[in-house]
Amino acid sequence: MSNGRLTELQAEYDRYLEADLKLDLTRGKPSAEQLDLSNNLDGILGGFYMLQDGTDVRNYGGILGIPEARQLGSEILDCKPEQTMVGGNSSLTLMYNFVNHMLESWGENAKFLCPVPGYDRHFTICEHFGIEMLTVPMTDEGPDMSVIEDMVSRVPDIKGIWCVPKYSNPTGHTYSVDTVKAFAELPKKAGSDFCVFWDNAYAVHDLEDTTDELQSLMAEAEKAGTQDNIIMLASTSKITFAGSGISFLSTSEARLKGFEKYLSDQVIGFDKVNQLRHARFLEDMDTLRAHMAKHRDLIKPKFDMVLSKLEESLGGKDIATWTRPRGGYFISLDTKPDLASTIVDLAAAAGVKLTPAGATFPYGKDPENKNIRIAPTYPSLGELEQAMDVFVTCVELATLNAEQG
Ligand SMILES: Cc1ncc(COP(=O)(O)O)c(C=O)c1O
Repeated sequence: MSNGRLTELQAEYDRYLEADLKLDLTRGKPSAEQLDLSNNLDGILGGFYMLQDGTDVRNYGGILGIPEARQLGSEILDCKPEQTMVGGNSSLTLMYNFVNHMLESWGENAKFLCPVPGYDRHFTICEHFGIEMLTVPMTDEGPDMSVIEDMVSRVPDIKGIWCVPKYSNPTGHTYSVDTVKAFAELPKKAGSDFCVFWDNAYAVHDLEDTTDELQSLMAEAEKAGTQDNIIMLASTSKITFAGSGISFLSTSEARLKGFEKYLSDQVIGFDKVNQLRHARFLEDMDTLRAHMAKHRDLIKPKFDMVLSKLEESLGGKDIATWTRPRGGYFISLDTKPDLASTIVDLAAAAGVKLTPAGATFPYGKDPENKNIRIAPTYPSLGELEQAMDVFVTCVELATLNAEQG
């Protein structure tokens, strides 16, 4: 690569430094326009708070949630309503609590497998409880099952694994049928208190006309007799209001009973008024899918913009590789080794905030320092375009600087 190109890039970058930009590509938050799609949640109950079974949702009680919302969650997670509970506005809280609930039986040396790159807040839960994390590489079919099977048979005290099985955060992968079946069998090799945390946060978040089909893990687990080891999660955070949705956890009925007992020490019941609002608003899977199509109309142009900027500026230059997700909230980009943190710092100095390099790995340490997660949903299209111009300049500048020593 010529020195001329480097001089050009440096001049471009210097112009960005002077432009006083304030742009943010960090967290996968819905934009205000996306939130507006659910404003009809407000007032939808019209003063009617009674369920068909006579329950007054304004009152205490019902830790597992109202039947209408349990039904909705079970359809999203592809299992039975009796296996599904409804929590507050964050599935992360349910994950945290479930891990806490299991800790006593897992013991002090518990370890978790973490497919990488992955979701930073899963890793934070492990760090919080002192659970050691062991990384597992991803393949196009999902996490590398042969590595996982080898590890659980070799390493003692592996008690769980974090999975985002559909439109994974951040790679966008959907696990193949064989991978799902292998996960249903895994607890037989890993032990009776091993938990598969199946965080299906993007179950209905398609970017294309056709959805990626995900095999039902619970159906496979019931065939394998491992349903007690399956903990599935989802929420409406990126369906309705991110800060005021409802969350779902599904597992075997027996395991759910144990978790209900654990929860009863800290809560008498979650927000049933909000559960009823969501059940009325989202109604059934057809209504839900029609609602998600409106989200897609708003965010697809943003994903397209990011992808076309990457292709235009970095395509064919052997500088970076990136994913082209069919759903979810992220694009995952790999730079040349050892450059991600430099690029994130360059972008920050020019006013473009990116997720910290390393955040997609346990302990914030990407061993190759090359993964960067791009979250296109929150900024406006115009802001996104500006941010991407800065970003691609930083990627190329850092790469050429490194090549020239
Ligand atoms: C994989 C994954 N799980 C869970 C969450 C957060 O879910 P909630 O808002 O229900 O806590 C996110 C948000 O980015 C996510 O990407």
